[in-house]
Amino acid sequence: MIIAIDGPAAAGKGTLARRLARHYRYDFLDTGSLYRGVGLQVLRAGGDPADPAAAKAAAEHLDLGLLPEPDLRGEAAAKAASLVAAQPAVRAALLDFQRNFARRPPGGHGAVLDGRDVGTVVCPDARVKLFITASLEARARRRLAELQAAGRAAIWEAVLQDMQDRDARDSKRDLAPLKPAADAVVIDTTSLSPDQVFEAARAIVEAKR
Ligand code: CDP
Repeated sequence: MIIAIDGPAAAGKGTLARRLARHYRYDFLDTGSLYRGVGLQVLRAGGDPADPAAAKAAAEHLDLGLLPEPDLRGEAAAKAASLVAAQPAVRAALLDFQRNFARRPPGGHGAVLDGRDVGTVVCPDARVKLFITASLEARARRRLAELQAAGRAAIWEAVLQDMQDRDARDSKRDLAPLKPAADAVVIDTTSLSPDQVFEAARAIVEAKR
């Protein structure tokens, strides 16, 4: 059983994916953390995330030790992630890892993956596909609160602008652009609580199990 959850930044994918994974005792993979890891690794080496050679080298030798680092959640890593994510060699290098996780999750029951292209590219055969979205303002508000709660300096205008830029880059790229799979169920979380989103998603999963 594979649950694929895609959507733009701060729409509530991660919260939902973790909750579904806990509820069904499935394993969870935040695919964005891999792209953030590649971006952060390039930045730490003093490289430019938009440079294909630097990004490819980092993706092919990704240090998984970077994934739990607090810097991974910062806006610098987010921006670097969306720059490396537009590059074919980076996406190719990360694909097998994601597919293997989905097909053979460590716990053996099922997998929940969240990202931008899980339902379209990584797991086109996933039993359940959800596309979680929300208005730009609602998402920027949530990201600001998240950054502030983590004690990071954050300015509303900058968060809004960064999110808009990243949405544009993720949606307009040629390879694996952000878009709902044809068979995905779209949930707009703008005026829904996390509990309401979870209940809506759980009903969809139950109908497919
Ligand atoms: O947490 P947030 O939604 O802000 O972003 P994320 O899921 O951590 O992803 C960071 C960036 O990685 C995105 O803006 C995408 O450019 C890229 N990404 C991707 O291209 N494909 C994925 N499956 C996941 C993330």
